[in-house]
Amino acid sequence: MKYIKQISAYENEVITLKGWVANKREGKGIVFLVLRDGSGFIQCILTEEELGAEKFEQARKLSLESSLSVTGKVIKAEKQMGGYEVQASEIEIYQIAEDYPIAKKEHGVDFLMDKRHLWLRSKRQWAIMRVRNKVIYYIHKFFQDRDFVNFDSPIFTGNAAEGSTTLFETDFYGKPAYLAQTGQLYAEAGAMAQGLVYTFGPTFRAEKSKTRRHLSEFWMIEPEMAFYDLDMDMDLIEDFIRTVVMDVLDACKTELELLGRDVSVFDMLKERFPRITYTEAVKYIRGEKEHNGKNAIQLQEEDLAGYQAEIKAKEAEIVEREAVVNNPNEKKGVKNFNRNKIDRLKAEIKELTEKTDNIPQWIESAKNFKEGEDFGGSDETVLTRLFAQPVMVYNWPTPIKAFYMKRVEDDENFVKGVDVLAPEGFGEIVGGSERETNLDFLLERIEHEGLNEEDFLWYNDLRKYGSVPHSGFGLGLERFICWICDLKHIREAIPFPRLYGRIYP
Ligand code: 4AD
Ligand code: MG
Repeated sequence: MKYIKQISAYENEVITLKGWVANKREGKGIVFLVLRDGSGFIQCILTEEELGAEKFEQARKLSLESSLSVTGKVIKAEKQMGGYEVQASEIEIYQIAEDYPIAKKEHGVDFLMDKRHLWLRSKRQWAIMRVRNKVIYYIHKFFQDRDFVNFDSPIFTGNAAEGSTTLFETDFYGKPAYLAQTGQLYAEAGAMAQGLVYTFGPTFRAEKSKTRRHLSEFWMIEPEMAFYDLDMDMDLIEDFIRTVVMDVLDACKTELELLGRDVSVFDMLKERFPRITYTEAVKYIRGEKEHNGKNAIQLQEEDLAGYQAEIKAKEAEIVEREAVVNNPNEKKGVKNFNRNKIDRLKAEIKELTEKTDNIPQWIESAKNFKEGEDFGGSDETVLTRLFAQPVMVYNWPTPIKAFYMKRVEDDENFVKGVDVLAPEGFGEIVGGSERETNLDFLLERIEHEGLNEEDFLWYNDLRKYGSVPHSGFGLGLERFICWICDLKHIREAIPFPRLYGRIYP
């Protein structure tokens, strides 16, 4: 089999490609097909002269997503995607597809989500899944290169670990068992056996809310390291994010270009990631402290003014273009061009208006942020606007973090947790911590959280038999992909998203 991805190796040769019709245009005696074979897209030129009357007639009947093989000569064509095209001398049709539901015109998100099994074929979704594949590969490579052992944690667990409000409960084992919210506690057992481990698996949270950042089933990567303190943990997180992103940018140039991702923003990863305490972060959020002369509240106000000015300009442009459309002496083509522009402008105004509606609320909630609270989505957004790099927020208030986090020395009000917030408003992608090793403190937290001590006997054993300082973190795979690909919603980052209110297809 030969694939489009390797097309440059076959210049001027006659080869056979097998795939599907991604696009079709027709002229007199000629059909232009965009063939996709999973590895890429290529234009194929089918002429009556080359194929003969009968085969050409078949070619004309090809509908979108029909499957076929094309045999022909590979010709350099600078202007085409991939730089080559195929001059077909033969085609074999597998199937003429029925009317394909995803046509070129714009579809609503709900429609596309119902057709997710087909939507995955379109260029943008294809590109995202290929980036996802490389992200997974380079995450494994990062840890394997550093002698971490891939360690599988169970999916059914007898205990909660990340709060009891987001548990999926099952009743197979004679007592309640839950789908894992995290593999961490088992990874801790793994680290005491192997030193350095990482889990890579699906995790589940019954989040009864629809946001652009939450899935009910997502993949998490959780390294766990014996003898690491929080500083070493943060060093590893920084190395990990920098290395994996750089590797992926290198491996996925075509895909990221197709997605329109401005990859130059990642140059900033060369610099050290800022590390600030939760208490400092609160001051930034409230606008009481500045970073490099930038004030979070002021930035929001400037954003707001900027968006409002953009809306005004676009509205003025619409008025001008409407005059062209309404001019009876204007050519049809020019009118259509302007109509399309007007539709585009209206959609852009709608997007901007959403922002101008939200920002005043964000400013209000940022100004009134109370010390001790967890950050909301908008607080994270505001904070990430101050820093070019991912920002690491550490030392969190004890009550809002998980029971296993180690107390800060001499201050039981704070724990050694760290959240990593991705820039450009993407927000939390990593949560990690140094783990509590003091058994009494641990028991106290387990009781305080209303957790059943008996479920944690095995976990507590880890503190009885050769207890050592240890740390780890969890990366949300789909959040990471959203940031790398610049996706507005997490549903596009996983093949078949599981969200509150969606289990089909
Ligand atoms: O911050 P979280 O809850 O941390 C843990 O689960 C720890 N046990 C990790 C550890 O220290 N080993 O989750 C870690 C990451 C988040 O930063 C986020 O990226 C992702 O998992 N995440 C979600 N992604 C998509 N949908 C959700 N509902 C998510 N909840 C968390
Ligand atoms: Mg978290």
